[in-house]
Amino acid sequence: MARPALADQPEARGTHRVSAGRTVVAAIALGTNLGDRAQHLERAVAALRRLPRTRVRGISSWLETEPVGGPVGQERYWNGAVLVDTELAPRELLDALLAIEAAEGRVRVAGVRDGPRTLDLDLLVHGDAVLDEPGLVLPHPRAEERAFVLEPLAEIAPGLRFPRSGSTVLEALANLRASGAERRVAPRAIASLGTPAEARAWCARERERGRRIGFVPTMGALHEGHLELVRRAARENDAAVVSVYVNPLQFDEKSDFDRYPRDFGSDVALLGPAGCAMAFTGTLAGFFAGLLGADGLLPVSLLVDPGPAAHGLEGALRPGHFAGVATIVDRLFDVVAPHVAYFGEKDFQQTLVVRDLARRRGAPPIVVCPTSREASGLARSSRNERLSNEQRAQAAAIFRALVSARAAWRSGERRADRLGAVMRAVLMDSALAVEYATVRDPDSWSADELAAPLERAQALIAVRLGGVRLIDNLRVDAPDPREPAA
Ligand code: PAJ
Repeated sequence: MARPALADQPEARGTHRVSAGRTVVAAIALGTNLGDRAQHLERAVAALRRLPRTRVRGISSWLETEPVGGPVGQERYWNGAVLVDTELAPRELLDALLAIEAAEGRVRVAGVRDGPRTLDLDLLVHGDAVLDEPGLVLPHPRAEERAFVLEPLAEIAPGLRFPRSGSTVLEALANLRASGAERRVAPRAIASLGTPAEARAWCARERERGRRIGFVPTMGALHEGHLELVRRAARENDAAVVSVYVNPLQFDEKSDFDRYPRDFGSDVALLGPAGCAMAFTGTLAGFFAGLLGADGLLPVSLLVDPGPAAHGLEGALRPGHFAGVATIVDRLFDVVAPHVAYFGEKDFQQTLVVRDLARRRGAPPIVVCPTSREASGLARSSRNERLSNEQRAQAAAIFRALVSARAAWRSGERRADRLGAVMRAVLMDSALAVEYATVRDPDSWSADELAAPLERAQALIAVRLGGVRLIDNLRVDAPDPREPAA
């Protein structure tokens, strides 16, 4: 059943891989108090992503703070921090930062310090460099004195050490707080982290502060269905955490994996307004540090058994799929250690597999959220992006078929094979190639349709349309307020 992983996903679009050469970690502080502050910061991050021989690893949330120093009556600042891996030398990186500032309209006036600015980028730390050159002092001489620098930096690099003092960012922040210095005013947007290790540290700190974490695992290409899960996680907890990782372990078709849309930056932009506090991504090597074989793949022996819910339907048609899901979800639960996790009913069989997994682990509780649908009834899915308008209209037949099974149930039909036939009759008229259209008892899940009359029924459909595989399901023995008008 288990199957080796495909090659790992490329990094988020728009970033450059750091190739051979001496790579160091560098930390950059961002600040702005003129004009559209959010836009200045987002554009600065986009420009940092485009830097050669540099990879963005983490982006903090934006904090609003009172101006420190400078002329009176200034606007409040928005501050943030970005962590990068870079091969650029300190001076090269500094020049690149000055160019980004200039592109945002920042003019540095000699002699005027701490005045209003559209964008201020400071190089805080560059590996273990200790420099005192004209215009370039490393580590940045005031970094450890400023809460508006340390607080965002602590979100993405708590253990980073300042080479001169030897303090970590967290230690420096604790020292500063002990001295009664400024405090953060209000968090804006979200922290976005590039590795599971950073996400683990962030979540551990949240838990230590007694904050309750609600977790939503995703593969990105986020749509309204995902965002409903995130909003609920944010409503019901102190911090909603979202993972965005296209997990190669669960794809049984390489072409599906290759074509899966990936744009971490756009996903993060949607997650902030939905109330997400932290989003993270990673690579297979990052999730399974030290565990991959010489071929870069996860040894089959490390795949997690998805249990009996994986039998039949998706499990039968997509060999290894649920082992891949169980393996990554198990690892994601290790990283985040959430108080509760949210999954969509859209992937009904997956919710059974995940519930079994969580039960075996002893945590977390799993909340299953209703399927979010387009006006036509078509279940929202990242794969819908690959359908033409005409195909989207054709795909609406899936929901019509599910609703017809529910109508048949209401008229008294209890036999699974008859309910399946009702759905196939609806689907036959469409351009969809049906893989299955069947009914199961959702509680006593079995791989095959039951011959005996059902007491409860979940109708499940998988079809192909063009090159796209679509799945959907509906509880047919319960009323659904979303039934479209006849
Ligand atoms: P993905 O397909 O991105 O879905 C992430 C979560 O969003 C899943 O729990 C899924 O059921 C839910 N979801 C997707 N479309 C939905 C819709 N229309 N309405 C409600 N919820 C919806 O499922 C996965 O990713 C992966 O298998 C994952 C669990 C992340 C493991 O890699």
